[in-house]
Amino acid sequence: MTLTIDVARSAPRDADAVGIPVASEGTVSRSLGLTRARLAELGFEGKPGQTLVIPTASGATVIAIGVGARKDRTPAAMRNAAAALARAAAKCSTLATSLADVDGEASRATAQAVAEGLVLASYRFTNHKSDKPKGGLSRVVLLAGSASEATVRAGAQRGSLIAGAVTTARDLANTPPAYLTARHLAERAEEIAAANGLEIEVFGKDELERMGCGGMLGVNQGSVEPPRLVKLVYRPRNPSGHVALVGKGVMYDSGGISLKPSDGMHVMMKMDMSGAAAVLAAMSTLKALRCKTQVTGYLCCTDNLPSGSAFKLGDVLTFRNGKTAEIHNTDAEGRLVLADGLSLAVEDKPDAIVDIATLTGAVLSALGTRIAGVLGNDQKWVERVRAAGERVDELMWQLPLHREYRKLLDSNVADMKNVGGPYGGAITAALFLNEFVADVPWAHLDIAGTMNSDSEDGWLSRGATAFGTRSLIELVTSFTRS
Ligand code: BES
Ligand code: MN
Ligand code: ZN
Repeated sequence: MTLTIDVARSAPRDADAVGIPVASEGTVSRSLGLTRARLAELGFEGKPGQTLVIPTASGATVIAIGVGARKDRTPAAMRNAAAALARAAAKCSTLATSLADVDGEASRATAQAVAEGLVLASYRFTNHKSDKPKGGLSRVVLLAGSASEATVRAGAQRGSLIAGAVTTARDLANTPPAYLTARHLAERAEEIAAANGLEIEVFGKDELERMGCGGMLGVNQGSVEPPRLVKLVYRPRNPSGHVALVGKGVMYDSGGISLKPSDGMHVMMKMDMSGAAAVLAAMSTLKALRCKTQVTGYLCCTDNLPSGSAFKLGDVLTFRNGKTAEIHNTDAEGRLVLADGLSLAVEDKPDAIVDIATLTGAVLSALGTRIAGVLGNDQKWVERVRAAGERVDELMWQLPLHREYRKLLDSNVADMKNVGGPYGGAITAALFLNEFVADVPWAHLDIAGTMNSDSEDGWLSRGATAFGTRSLIELVTSFTRS
């Protein structure tokens, strides 16, 4: 079910839940019906994101939602508070709350974050459940004073739109591999492009051969499903710059001949197209957000399967930019499809490139499941990408693109190997990609650790997270040529 966010001055009659913000100090709203002393007895202190459901004999359920002290009310904290409120109200259908206008101090950023938190915490992937959960939160009315109403409405609209894009990306990543092949994703991209004013070109196997995209073709070789390379262009009038986004779209990563073990990790490999999903979803919002920057997106879509026709260890692939790689592990396939995508992106002469990919288990070991790795060839650009992530609470940490490690990729027969040994895997993977970006400022986001969440946690819901979608939107909509 999709969650509708409305804005009004007073709660609608049919609201069956009312969310009342409670700060950690100062007065408690009288509509709560409880004093601070009583709240304290119940263990509720108004900490950010803390909730207390107060059933009433009749009428709407009252939910206290902690918002901490004034200094705690960052957009990130308010997004998480809204997420907690949505979870506490999950059994209700219409929720009214003044969370976006605490103390009449609404800002567009807060309202946006609140809308995002409500929608993202309510997200469930139920396409393949025969017993679809009935009921549940379907409408939230954000209450605002007359002075704040327009601000809250603008923020809520932006937040709903962006959360809708995140929902699209999560749906794509959660979809089982048989239901979302490269051809399916290209079809979805066609629909999304048509509905959102994007130009689109889809390249199939023959075109990829003509274009010299040996990375895409090599990885695809073991599959009966053909590959798709999707190019999307958002072209505003008089663009103020041009950013290229390249997404890894490995529809299912079995590892190929270097087969992965059948553990829980393997089940997650339907999400190995999360980078491509983030690029597609981010681009779907740009027209509505009136982005001033031109954005070109490349989705590098194929699965990676073993078969009699699969590419092998020892094979040499030639990429779009003419460079060659000797295959030492067919499970290091993401960099091979990105090599072609990045080469094509460079040909468009953008001001800067970002690629986003579920690239290495190594980044999961290094940074865990809540922080993505970022590396690149241009410190200012890397920092701008990281800062955009921080503004939307998608955390990133820079790893060094240590050129000394390039020798770990040296090959006897080709320009490089596709793996760099057992250590520093996130770095050697990025050094491989670095061979395909020429001198365009480039940042690489490794989202292997952050693509999935095992728990309901703030704006994350269980399963695909669509990590990076909001960062990319933030990055390109705030882009200026430096
Ligand atoms: N898709 C995987 C990376 C991955 C791992 C994503 C865990 C999400 C969770 C990637 O294609 C891969 O298999 N990488 C290998 C590279 C290695 C063979 C150099 C890895 O990280 O083990
Ligand atoms: Mn792999
Ligand atoms: Zn992969």
